[in-house]
Amino acid sequence: MNNKKLVFSGVQPTGNLHLGNYLGALKNFVLLQKESKCIYCVVDLHAITVFQKPETLRSNILETTAGFIASGLDPVKSIIFNQSSVSGHAELAWIFSCVSRLGWLNRMTQFKDKAGSDKEKASVGLYIYPNLMAADILLYKATHVPVGADQKQHLELSRDIAQKFNKDFNCAGFFPLPEPLIPKNVSRVMSLRDGTKKMSKTEESDYSRINLKDSADDIEKKIKKAKSDSSVIPDNIKSLENKPEAFNLLSIYSEVSKINLDKVLKEMSGKDYSYVKKNLTDLLISEICPVGKEIKKLMGDKTHLENILQKGSEKARIIAEENLKNIREKIGLI
Ligand code: TYM
Repeated sequence: MNNKKLVFSGVQPTGNLHLGNYLGALKNFVLLQKESKCIYCVVDLHAITVFQKPETLRSNILETTAGFIASGLDPVKSIIFNQSSVSGHAELAWIFSCVSRLGWLNRMTQFKDKAGSDKEKASVGLYIYPNLMAADILLYKATHVPVGADQKQHLELSRDIAQKFNKDFNCAGFFPLPEPLIPKNVSRVMSLRDGTKKMSKTEESDYSRINLKDSADDIEKKIKKAKSDSSVIPDNIKSLENKPEAFNLLSIYSEVSKINLDKVLKEMSGKDYSYVKKNLTDLLISEICPVGKEIKKLMGDKTHLENILQKGSEKARIIAEENLKNIREKIGLI
């Protein structure tokens, strides 16, 4: 156990967890819990930056918790809790809203994507969302943050906020500058229908993603229908440059099979894409379906999931309160 490393990450409870969340984040969460102290959070306050039906949100918080456990997180080894149950997240987010600069937030590409063309109608919460994300991480003085590539810019903002706070309040090293841990091979799993867009919970077509709760039948149908390429599989990565869907399928296969992409291409070159699709389907069914089944089973005992969150919140609150006390002191609050 490396005691200096403290891992924090979060997942929004906004619907079905999918293969992007699994390969980009959850699998890494599980690996990290073997060697480090880890805190994993169901970030419900982030979810409400866009309207959520209360009943749906309640259920999604529990389902995301079930997704954590079903993927292999152990609530004894790692702290697992939901963000809103530790009020320090909201308090530190306010403090950071006073440290963070408008110019920094104006550069956030995810806000631009999510707010769409009518920014006037986006919630203020959506705009200052990255300040809350910095608060999540720095409330625990986390040093490492496993995320997919889409969160890289937010992580950079967290580092900027930490650095400015340390400088403004003359306390070098008070907040660590958190390092992103981004998977090397598939840092961004793309939509199965459009290889230029990331796989996401909110994409309208369910055929664009593999959900962790999909049945073997669903997975087979979705991979069969996934866009690929009309020519055969090439023998080198460069030839995939303008073929985002083909690159995506082969990269997912490489990640799930644990065979590096060069080797996959050597083995499969000259074959058509139905070949990789068949192999990928088999692998996904054996890796994803057990996770989905476990999520469904865990959702049958909501009290158990609520207990996990409650115990995790108690542990998180102790660390958060201690750190907040020092943060308030640094600022001059009494
Ligand atoms: P969220 O809920 O959108 O996604 C959860 C995690 O899954 C990763 N991910 C992907 N990785 C690869 N390919 C994809 N298509 C894909 N889609 C999602 C995300 O990168 C993320 O790691 N802002 C965060 C939640 C958050 C957070 C935090 C994360 C709030 N506070 C503090 C880390 C630390 C988000 O919306 O993730």
